[in-house]
Amino acid sequence: MVVNAPEFGLPEDRRMPTTTLEGWRRFVEEDPIAFDLLPEEEWKDLDPRARDEYDEGRVNYHSELIIVETPTVRDVLHQGRLLTLVNRREISARRGLIVSGPWATGKSTALKQLGRAHELRVRQRFPDHDRIPVVYVSAPPNGSPRKLATRFAHFLGLPMKARHNEMDIADAVCEILTEARCDLVLVDEIHNINMATSTGKDLSDHLKYFAEHIPATFVYAGINVQREGLFTGVRGKQIAARCVMKYTGNFPYQAEWRSMVELMEDSLRLHRHEPGTLVRMAKYLHTRTEGSISSLSHLVRAAAISAIADGSEHVTRPLLKSIPVDHNTQSASSGTADAEDNGEVGDAA
Ligand SMILES: Nc1ncnc2c1ncn2[C@@H]1O[C@H](COP(=O)(O)OP(=O)(O)O)[C@@H](O)[C@H]1O
Ligand SMILES: [Mg+2]
Repeated sequence: MVVNAPEFGLPEDRRMPTTTLEGWRRFVEEDPIAFDLLPEEEWKDLDPRARDEYDEGRVNYHSELIIVETPTVRDVLHQGRLLTLVNRREISARRGLIVSGPWATGKSTALKQLGRAHELRVRQRFPDHDRIPVVYVSAPPNGSPRKLATRFAHFLGLPMKARHNEMDIADAVCEILTEARCDLVLVDEIHNINMATSTGKDLSDHLKYFAEHIPATFVYAGINVQREGLFTGVRGKQIAARCVMKYTGNFPYQAEWRSMVELMEDSLRLHRHEPGTLVRMAKYLHTRTEGSISSLSHLVRAAAISAIADGSEHVTRPLLKSIPVDHNTQSASSGTADAEDNGEVGDAA
């Protein structure tokens, strides 16, 4: 048996939140699931029960599918690595990175890939397990500074008492992280920090406190934070002045898009899929998804799972057509995609 997805299924704890140290470590350690198709004869000979299990394993595999190295992932990995190196000897004026763009453009994915790559590198150099090289937290919605400090404490699993105020918690967090040689702090969802409110201002001050007291590179991500939220106002500008910006967005229909489609197609594990089918439909897929990596990933995964469920074992245009993508994308583009469907616009192989 060459199937190597663990017992055909996802271990339960694969879904632990990455905003806790345990969940984060699991995320860093787990390799992406792999799955090898059975040879034709063996596959045909599976008894119904074995086939069920085999298909269940493939459904799990396709539900995660691969992380493609998009330009966003590549740039964030590159910039993040550079900053951690440049900041190594920097005492106070450490530089940071802000990843900013619309919803579902791969910001969190890129942030976590950066954190994972960094932690794996550190672990290779220092195999002892006392270090906490990376922290991943998300900013609390309309949160108070205490809530932000609590997010850090929660990641570390620090017990907290009601009498602890935000400074008690923050100081404990900074001390532990300094001792554990943390050198990369990822703060996601920073659009939650609304500088128009006084709580937002306090929160932003508090974030600055962390950035000054933990000798680490800070990387932030949030929805369109260049214009609003954390980085406006005096305090926000102080943080932003030391940060490199990386903007994310949907992808234009270019070679990069085709290669992303190709990578996704290569990762499919279907018995009757003809390689190249999806690449030939790259233009159609672009129109359907408006160049959104999130919608593309959803569409391809849903189609693959559907092809397993109905036994067709391949992804075709009619199958893709039958799968709705996210509401926003759907309403804006379904007309054009349908029109193109008849004329095969720009979709020649
Ligand atoms: N590099 C990538 N490769 C494959 N799928 C991706 C990639 N980046 C994002 N996605 C898909 O898009 C979805 C949204 O990405 P996410 O990183 O959560 O976006 P954001 O943080 O910008 O809202 C993910 O759940 C995933 O399905
Ligand atoms: Mg996100």
